[in-house]
Amino acid sequence: MLDTPRLIDPFARTIDYLRVSVTDRCDFRCVYCMSEHMEFLPKKELLTLEELDRLCSVFVELGVRKLRITGGEPLVRRNIMTFFRAMSRHLRSGALEELTLTTNGSQIARFARELADCGVRRVNVSLDTLDPAKFRDITRWGRFEQVMDGITAAAEAGLRVKINTVALRGVNDTELHDMVAWCGDRGHDLTFIEVMPMGDLGGEDRLDQYWSLKDLRADLERRWTLTDTAERTGGPARYVRVAETGGRIGFITPLTHNFCESCNRVRLTCTGQLYMCLGQEDEADLRAPLRTHPNDDTALVTAIRRAIDRKPKGHDFDYSRQTVTGQVSRHMSHTGG
Ligand code: GTP
Ligand code: 5AD
Ligand code: SF4
Repeated sequence: MLDTPRLIDPFARTIDYLRVSVTDRCDFRCVYCMSEHMEFLPKKELLTLEELDRLCSVFVELGVRKLRITGGEPLVRRNIMTFFRAMSRHLRSGALEELTLTTNGSQIARFARELADCGVRRVNVSLDTLDPAKFRDITRWGRFEQVMDGITAAAEAGLRVKINTVALRGVNDTELHDMVAWCGDRGHDLTFIEVMPMGDLGGEDRLDQYWSLKDLRADLERRWTLTDTAERTGGPARYVRVAETGGRIGFITPLTHNFCESCNRVRLTCTGQLYMCLGQEDEADLRAPLRTHPNDDTALVTAIRRAIDRKPKGHDFDYSRQTVTGQVSRHMSHTGG
């Protein structure tokens, strides 16, 4: 064990949640996330699964209690189950409280049982619409039925499912109540997300699509009885209960209600860069200390601590003057949200 205290940033926030992007690739091309013609990293740039294991294990020793595997689409990374199996040892030892993933759902039918077997208890599945044609428009390459089958398989394997829906005016605003009813019927949590200005998408206009969750909540309350709860899932969502369905709805509001003051997370990319904030450009390279010292984690730990010492207060995303400010250049798929 490393004889070291936990990770605490300059704003006294404890960092105990690591999001790990295991690939920048994805089998979808969601319009708000990627441009149609993305250039992906050459495979040789990626950390190996063994290197990812070592990095994550050091973070666990430094007090990380929650590990979320992201992408791109994490389940398209080759042999990814080897990595989940390896990480499950930290669940068994009690060092890790939660091992989970965020997925587009396309591959989950293949892996649901094995994930459950590795100690994964819940998955977050991105789904912005229940209309197959609209689904095709949003994801460009996605197949709606495949994702539906995936969600069903996940539930059958005993995984709790949280649906992530990016609120898009003019796109899925007409389906708000259908989504709530559908998730309520199936017992899935549902989280709405305000669209964030990340990456140049070639023509997509964030402001045109932006639907504030203040407005969305007001629309919801026309039909459903919502009660605020103090329940949390470790991420930035604030939840309400829906009296009519018994279900839970989360709101992730980077634009209308900044939640950075309670930030507990950092993000590792598949090439070993650590991003201290989703909404800022600063990053720290962990691959060099990892590779230069294959048998000694001292330099790696120092690099992690130095990075945490630079964690900024928060993002600068802002649409309030009818223009987009605070945009970051990388795509969401680079860090998996
Ligand atoms: P749980 O609470 O464990 O379910 O996780 P989560 O909701 O944080 O994770 P998920 O991967 O489902 O993320 C949902 C959305 O929240 C994505 O669009 C993320 O980009 C966004 N999100 C997660 N963490 C942050 C954050 O630190 N800052 C901002 N601005 N958005 C975040
Ligand atoms: N703004 C908000 N959420 C986004 N996601 C992808 N791109 C954006 C964006 N620009 C969401 C996906 C997925 C999660 C990882 O991030 O829908 O649920
Ligand atoms: Fe892929 Fe997710 Fe980005 Fe869509 S939002 S392109 S599913 S990484």
